[in-house]
Amino acid sequence: MTFVTWNEKLLTGIREIDHDHKMLFDLIEQFHEAYMSTDSKAAMEPAFRMLMDYTENHFRREEELLEKVGYPGQAGHHQDHEDLKDEVLALYQRFQNDKLQGVENDLGLELLSFLKNWLEFHILEDDMKYVEFIRDKEKH
Ligand SMILES: [Fe+2]
Ligand SMILES: [Fe+2]
Repeated sequence: MTFVTWNEKLLTGIREIDHDHKMLFDLIEQFHEAYMSTDSKAAMEPAFRMLMDYTENHFRREEELLEKVGYPGQAGHHQDHEDLKDEVLALYQRFQNDKLQGVENDLGLELLSFLKNWLEFHILEDDMKYVEFIRDKEKH
């Protein structure tokens, strides 16, 4: 069963950004597969690391682009990225702590749902704003 699917509505038309976004969807999917696997506790750790590393790199690439084009909402966009990283790491730490103490919970699923919803929402609402700005700029 597929957990997240990239769709045409998420297309920005900027090749590198679309490539990154599709990759993020793939990595969330892999994280979900790790969560569903029989040895989920061991499998989730590397999947989570890969996802967070790629997320960091994507945010950096995106922020470099915003800087280059002189996007006025750059500071706010940077803050959105920072907030996501903080929230995801806090959730992951809670998940890890519970694991250490042998607490059975579904924080893994909470984390996955958060990532999925955040990514879709962030692309559609926030990323699309700078996309519009770049398109407008290109027209002039
Ligand atoms: Fe993005
Ligand atoms: Fe972004």
